[in-house]
Formats: sequence, structure tokens, C-alpha cells
Amino acid sequence: MKLILVSGARPNFMKVAPLIWELKKRRARSASFPIRHLLVHTGQHYDRDMMAVFFKEFELPEPDINLGVGSGSHAVQTAKIMIHFEKVCKKEKPDMVVVVGDVNSTIACTLVACKLGIRTAHVEAGLRSFDRTMPEEVNRILTDLISDLLFTSCPEANRNLAREGIPPEKIHFVGNIMVDSLVRNRPRAAKMKVYRDFGQKKGRYAVLTLHRPSNVDRDDSLGNILSALRVVSKEIPIIFPVHPRTQKQLIKYGYDRSLNADSPLVLTNPLGYLEFLSLLLGARFVLTDSGGIQEETTALGIPCLTLRENTERPITVSMGTNRVIGSEKQRIILECRKILEGKGKAARGIPDLWDGRTAGRIVDVFLKNGG
Ligand code: UD1
Repeated sequence: MKLILVSGARPNFMKVAPLIWELKKRRARSASFPIRHLLVHTGQHYDRDMMAVFFKEFELPEPDINLGVGSGSHAVQTAKIMIHFEKVCKKEKPDMVVVVGDVNSTIACTLVACKLGIRTAHVEAGLRSFDRTMPEEVNRILTDLISDLLFTSCPEANRNLAREGIPPEKIHFVGNIMVDSLVRNRPRAAKMKVYRDFGQKKGRYAVLTLHRPSNVDRDDSLGNILSALRVVSKEIPIIFPVHPRTQKQLIKYGYDRSLNADSPLVLTNPLGYLEFLSLLLGARFVLTDSGGIQEETTALGIPCLTLRENTERPITVSMGTNRVIGSEKQRIILECRKILEGKGKAARGIPDLWDGRTAGRIVDVFLKNGG
């Protein structure tokens, strides 16, 4: 069985890597292991900070094929990936294409494979924010609709898929693959104590990430969030690794100068996986609009405030440490103060099968389905 594993953007690497580790481990154990794989990187993300550093940290080989598509509008980016990926599929003739997450590369490669009659598997299927203004929501719905194997990370995802009429035999509840990466790297990250590089002490700083178009692409929403954070950062330092999209918007609206001058927010370039995990481990709390960080903070038991109106990961709220608070100024300040006063949200536990063994369960399903 020949698989093509697809990576596209930063949040994909921590989901693809555990599959590669598992496939390699099984192949090393038995020469007759029947699955071979190729790693195809679409090039949706391409900077060192957004890509290369992750390959190094996850001990991944160079991608077998890099489509090199780069940035563009949604249509341009998706179309370019499709054109290049179709050529790869025709040449390599894989038995299955495996995609992860919800980025443009995810839907582009699934659509290509599906039209060529190649089976597809979607890891992290079934998550729904029920907000179709999010590009990722459209990518999720369409990817799930045409995939042959759907690997889910929580019971809500199974329910969402069932509601959309996906046959139950396609759906496999395997747990959260990102937690595989977390479990493997946590000891290394804990030793790094990256907060020291920012002049901070354990438990005495917060971490912020921001990159959703709904938060950063408009002056009023970005300005509003920054103005709340200026208030909060007088009470606790905030370390802010800035995503390239956000960096552009900060410059466009002229916030870069005011932030760099006398701002108590500590801005830095995007961090590698280990550095960022190390920062998370020492943080008092986290403010974010990322999907993955909502899950990582739940897995680590760190309070998380999500600066969005909704989440496709409700288990992080019902079981975990996450509060979805929107991006209104006074609410942000209020919720941060609650945490500083010791009224942060305690987790009820770690969700089922977020145990570091998800990749193994996925490979078992591959073997049962034609390996
Ligand atoms: C993409 C994903 C989003 C994911 C995010 C994580 C889609 C629709 N969006 O959003 O789901 O949460 O990645 O980062 O797939 N840029 C660089 N260097 C890079 C990549 C991008 O400078 O390596 C800049 C470019 O100017 C680009 C902008 O960042 O225009 C946005 O990149 P893009 O891939 O379009 O979307 P993200 O906001 O990163």
C-alpha cells in the first residue's frame, strides 16, 4: 500500500509527524510491513519560521516532493495546489492520500485524489465551528464529505459527521494526533525554559497568538484587541510570537511602531514547536485564536482564553481549560483578571484517547483497510 501524506501549513506538521514516526517504527520492526509512504509538502507555508524549523524539530526528512505553491488568494492557492498535486498523483499512483486539519492544502489535495478515484483519509475530521465565514470551516465540511476514512479526535466530531449523513463505517474515533507530538516533545521542551530568554519567570507571564483573518485583517478588531492587551500587560507581561499575516497587518495599520516603542507586550518572531511548547509550559495563561492551541492548553492543563466567537473544538470548553470569550475589549480584560485572581477554569480531565497513541490507532485502520 502506497500512501501520500500531505502537509501544507504550520498547524499540519505536528499532525503528520506522528504518522511518519509510527510508519517508520513499524517498518523497522518488520521487513514485510506493507505500507510505504511519500511526504508531499504543498508549500502553502514556506518560511523557515513557518516550515523548515518544524521539519528539523520533528526529525522529519525533507519532503519527498515540495509543490512550492506559496501564498495567494484562496482561489489561487487552492487551484495551484490542485494543478501540481494532480501531476504528482498521476505519476506516483498512490493507493491512498492522507490529509490532516483544515487548511487550503487539505481540501485541495482531497479534491484532486477523489476525482482521480484515489482513496482519501482525513485526520482530524468532524470538527465544526458552524461558522462558514471561516475559510477552515468550508475546508472541513468539503473534505469530510468526500473522504473515505474519517479519523476523529472527540465524540462531538462523530456526532457532527453522523448529522451530515456520513456512513458510520467510514468514521474512526482514534483520539487527538497532536497530543502524540506533545507527549513526545514535552520533556525536551520543559528543560528549555524559554521564558528566561524573554526575561520572565515561570507562571508569571501570559502568551498570546493571533492570526485569524476575523481578528487581524480589520483595523477595528485588531486595534480593539491590542488596546485590551495593553491594559492586561500592565498586570502581567504578555509574550506575543507574531504570525506573518499579523505582522503584515500590524505594519499596515501602523501598530508596529506603537507596540515596539513603549509597549509592555513582548513581540517576537514566530517560534519553533519546542520553543513555543516550552513557553506554554511556563505560562500563567494563554490568549489565542488558534485551533490547535486550544487543544494543547487543554492537554497541558493551562488556562486558555479564546479570542473568537465560536470554537470547532467544544471539548476544550466542556472538559478542558478553554473559555471562548470573543474579542470585545472589556470582556478580554475581565477574563484575564479573573485568571489573575485565581478564578481560572480548571479542567475536568483529559479527553478520551488524547494519550499520545493516536498514530498507532490510525495505522491499524490503514492495515485493516487494504494494507
Ligand atoms: C493558514 C490557514 C489557517 C491556519 C494558519 C496557521 C488556510 C485557509 N488558512 O492561514 O487555517 O490556522 O495557516 O498559520 O489554509 N506568509 C509568510 N510566510 C509563510 C506563509 C505565509 O510570510 O511561510 C504570509 C503571506 O504573506 C501570506 C500570509 O502570511 O499571504 C497568510 O498566509 P496563508 O497561508 O494565506 O494563511 P494563514 O493566515 O497562514
